[in-house]
Amino acid sequence: MLILGIETSCDETAAAVVEDGKKILSSVVFSQDIHAEYGGVVPELASRDHIRNIIPVVKRCLFDAAVSLRDLDAIAVTQSPGLIGSLLVGLSFAKSLAFSLNIPFLAINHLEGHIYANFLTYPELDSPLLGLIVSGGHTDLIVIDERGQYQLLGSTLDDACGEAFDKVGNLLGLSYPGGPAIEELARGGNADAIPFPLGRVKNYDFSFSGLKTAVLYYLNDLSEAEREEQRADVAASFQKIAVRMLLKKSVKAIQETKIMKIAVSGGVSANDFLRDRFFREAKKEGFTVYFPDKQLCTDNAAMIAACGYDHYKKGERASFSIKANPTEDIY
Ligand code: KG4
Ligand code: ZN
Repeated sequence: MLILGIETSCDETAAAVVEDGKKILSSVVFSQDIHAEYGGVVPELASRDHIRNIIPVVKRCLFDAAVSLRDLDAIAVTQSPGLIGSLLVGLSFAKSLAFSLNIPFLAINHLEGHIYANFLTYPELDSPLLGLIVSGGHTDLIVIDERGQYQLLGSTLDDACGEAFDKVGNLLGLSYPGGPAIEELARGGNADAIPFPLGRVKNYDFSFSGLKTAVLYYLNDLSEAEREEQRADVAASFQKIAVRMLLKKSVKAIQETKIMKIAVSGGVSANDFLRDRFFREAKKEGFTVYFPDKQLCTDNAAMIAACGYDHYKKGERASFSIKANPTEDIY
């Protein structure tokens, strides 16, 4: 069974063809570069760019998969959460295409899509397991009771982890998105150079805004020359504490729930320093950690198509009257 996935919830215009929820025949991701000069995503520009890109991206994806529109069995599209204008482009496009081809379409939650990035990478991964979604908009620690059944343990009280990387990237004069740029800069820095504070938050919740402010104050106290000299140390020290916060709450959840598996996903899970810290801790504490293939960490449509397959198998079909929802969650 062939599902065309479509993802336009933020600033990536993406399409993918996935067979039987497991095999990626093609996956095309167009990352909009028009936002770099603004230091963050400009919603109005994002939706206009999706309109320009959606048809070429879908055409390219069908071409790469060597399938035609008539071969498709269903379309899965991100319907929530995200930027409303961006979601609307993908959803309206998917509805129209499904209607014209007379095939079903499935409305997918972006966060559930991120969870499925791990199921795509490890098709045999069984539940229950813990999930940590770390992206530009979310930092959620969850229990995955089974595919489609999720409980929220905790989430960020302020900035999302990826958002903190982006904002600190801005402070360091790096271009958007800051996450990959900080990771790169941090490779040449000393992660123990600056003792940034680990925010204190109760239970399974997270906080990153105190850390971000600490970086701001630290940089403000430096001369121009000192700033330049310490950039890599600041990046490495910030990254270490941000990852420590994620690890601390994840280990707490593992110890308290006794669920010895955790699947990390979302854009920040592409970070090698984070991966290394989790793998080391897993070895020490005796749990198993899973990460999606790198290209499935950041926004893509293959994870949406894979998620759509399970929804389809359960008999779900979206109505053509369904609306884009900027905030809906899955817990
Ligand atoms: O999942 P994603 O593509 O989009 C959202 O759903 O938000 O995540 C994007 C976020 C951005 O904040 C970006 O800076 C961060 O993921 N990110 C990274 C890395 N790659 C992307 N953060 C740290 N290290 C990376 N290598
Ligand atoms: Zn995402």
